[in-house]
Amino acid sequence: MSWIVEPRDPRTQSEGVVAGYAHTARRWPSQPLVARPHGAGELSGPAQLERRLPPSPADLAGRGANRALGQLIHLRARVVDEDGAPVPGALVEIWHCNSAGRYLHPNDSSDSPPDPNFRGNARLVAGDSGLVELRTIKPAAYAVPDTDGWWRPPHIHFSVWGRVWLSRLVTQMFFPGDPLNESDAILNAVRDPEARARCIARFVPTVPGPENALVYEYQLVVRGRKAAPRMP
Ligand SMILES: [Fe+2]
Repeated sequence: MSWIVEPRDPRTQSEGVVAGYAHTARRWPSQPLVARPHGAGELSGPAQLERRLPPSPADLAGRGANRALGQLIHLRARVVDEDGAPVPGALVEIWHCNSAGRYLHPNDSSDSPPDPNFRGNARLVAGDSGLVELRTIKPAAYAVPDTDGWWRPPHIHFSVWGRVWLSRLVTQMFFPGDPLNESDAILNAVRDPEARARCIARFVPTVPGPENALVYEYQLVVRGRKAAPRMP
């Protein structure tokens, strides 16, 4: 493990406020950040985080009569540091919309139909290899409310908590081959094409079987030069 984290290239991170997407202006600092020394308040962390924020079942799709609509997928996300070393114990919260493009959230004002069998979000703890696995359905693209019909590509939101208060990353994962990836304002707020490519999951062919979910793997880098961009 290296003790010096190399500074990031700003082109690998989001520009933050996205023109034409009003919500981003409320989610990003309007003033430049101020560097401050790291004391106990920053370098300590919440005790017994798993007890305060208990993990949930790693299944948003359900089964049988309670199965959510949509393509069944199996997501394997590995939380790693700048050296590719696993970050066991990271608390990973995951949420995405249903197969019609609607979130399980009261603020979703779209007219896309809800799915009573879709759970909508999960909270998982990374294992010794940094891995979290989730059985779910592939989210749909959706038109962003309060815009002139801007469609977002299918994507999955992540929030990662580490061991100290400063260790928090909120980002998004995208699906390979989707044509909307090319024009998405949030993804393209990251100017470096290699950094954008790192935001896209890898499709893994599987052997047909009774639970033949589409498998996607994703490397969630939480710090360093290849850290995942912060995305609202
Ligand atoms: Fe979203």
